[in-house]
Amino acid sequence: MTDPIKKITDYYGGFNEKDRLESCFGQIEFVRSQQIIARYLPGAPSVILDVGGAAGRYSCWLAGLGYEVHLIDPVPKHLEQAKQASVLQKGAEIASCSLGDARQLPFRDSFADALLLMGPLYHLGKVHDRIKALKEAYRVLKKGGVLFAVIISRYASAIDGLHSGYYKDPEFREIMQHDLKDGQHRNPTGNELYFTDAYFQHPQELRSEIEQAGFQHEATIGIEGISYMMRDLDVSWNTTEYREFLLDIIQRLECEPTLIGASPHIMAVAYKN
Ligand SMILES: C[S@@+](CC[C@H](N)C(=O)[O-])C[C@H]1O[C@@H](n2cnc3c(N)ncnc32)[C@H](O)[C@@H]1O
Repeated sequence: MTDPIKKITDYYGGFNEKDRLESCFGQIEFVRSQQIIARYLPGAPSVILDVGGAAGRYSCWLAGLGYEVHLIDPVPKHLEQAKQASVLQKGAEIASCSLGDARQLPFRDSFADALLLMGPLYHLGKVHDRIKALKEAYRVLKKGGVLFAVIISRYASAIDGLHSGYYKDPEFREIMQHDLKDGQHRNPTGNELYFTDAYFQHPQELRSEIEQAGFQHEATIGIEGISYMMRDLDVSWNTTEYREFLLDIIQRLECEPTLIGASPHIMAVAYKN
């Protein structure tokens, strides 16, 4: 991973991140992330930084709840999309959308009450870059401020490969095997469904890196959990009774140490003390 920002900009230039959370599985990720974030957020109006905020889905939601939200992303296309989404929320716009890098945030010390780091960690393949991003998050948070940091699980390619049928492609099988070895996800195929160069992390390593940056770890939580195991997920997710049942099961298992790595996305919650 030589220049992570160039890789990221090239990849998202061709990928439709704006609509990623619209699929059934994307909706589960979004609803679950909202539920977890809402549990720990201080009341509005406080200041929230959405670092790697992409097209502004979480920023718009939080601005709509009355928070002062500042979005940072290195991809110009994402900033334009976030601004467009924001203006549609008259009276509850995102406070600012700026080009930036999680490793060098354009905010003063102790500026924010909460910080979403939902993307940058899995795009930063080197440990010193991830620690740099986490230390920046620590610097700009107030004492008592809360961090929400998301990773992709070390086992995500194995799960997705088996579930989606990508395992039938020998090139994806190689990607799966490489990911299982060291989490360094490399996609030389050009197939955007196989994602871009990234780092798929072990949940225990996430906790250790967060603590190295100075945070007090509160919880590590599986976001989607094993929802992909549900038969006819699309239909069940759109049936209120089954959707509620699924969300309850995911929540009950969300901190179970033997299952957290089986969740494609994992969120750590931590405080600056
Ligand atoms: C998969 S998207 C996730 C977007 C959104 N936060 C979410 O959870 O749905 C990852 C985002 O992280 C951004 N990103 C990657 N590396 C970054 C970095 N070093 N600093 C800031 N943002 C970064 C990307 O541009 C992209 O918008």
